Amino acid sequence: MNIVFLGPPGAGKGTMAERVADETGLAHVSTGDIFRDNIRHETELGRKVKELIDRGQLVPDSITIELVQDRLHEADVQLGWILDGFPRTRPQAEALSEFARVDLVILLNISDEEVIRRLSGRRVHPESGRTYHVEFNPPAKEGHDDVTGEPLIRRDDDDEESIRTRLSVYKEQTEPVIAYYRKHKLIVDVDASGTIDEVQTKIHSLLKE
Ligand code: AP5
Ligand code: MG
Repeated sequence: MNIVFLGPPGAGKGTMAERVADETGLAHVSTGDIFRDNIRHETELGRKVKELIDRGQLVPDSITIELVQDRLHEADVQLGWILDGFPRTRPQAEALSEFARVDLVILLNISDEEVIRRLSGRRVHPESGRTYHVEFNPPAKEGHDDVTGEPLIRRDDDDEESIRTRLSVYKEQTEPVIAYYRKHKLIVDVDASGTIDEVQTKIHSLLKE
């Protein structure tokens, strides 16, 4: 089964994709995580995309499409995948339909106020991408990753200005992707405003259907 998670920044795509991947054995493919890994390791790709990502702008389609196409040809994703953060433009959605089959699109809906609440309290473990929230999903020891004990950070694009840019980029460039998948009758809407466990339960039952 191949699933796309869609939704605004901070909707919980990464959090839910990670949980569903653990539950189902599907591979979790996050374009944001791939870009951030490249930035951390100062690769050529990382240097190219850092400034755009920090400002909340999208990486050009040509780069992103090729990256995902290569990733979906790797061995560990052949039993099915969850795409988190891709496609987020109409050309990306059209390109994806040419090299892969999408079975289901889960759209996580939340309000702009909730986006700001979630992103301003988010903390991440850069190495693994594990995500916490100071209030809604705190680590066992404040400011430290549960598994490694290493310090947590705030993402560089989680400042107020970048969040505003990401929200408007989402409205302009990613909402057409929703329309595209609605036309293809692949979208299931999920109210993502509940707690993490509540949203996970909703997704669990819709996947059972
Ligand atoms: P990406 O990493 O995809 O960022 P995003 O879309 O802005 O989404 P986020 O990762 O911020 O949020 P999320 O929905 O995963 O929420 P999370 O689970 O963390 O992309 C980053 C950048 O990379 C882009 O801006 C762009 O520059 C570039 N990029 C990536 N893909 C691209 C593409 N396809 N094309 C072009 N450029 C691309 O949850 C958020 C917080 O809320 C956490 O603290 C979490 O603990 C908490 N939380 C989650 N669920 C709940 C809940 N139900 N209740 C309470 N708290 C919750
Ligand atoms: Mg994410």
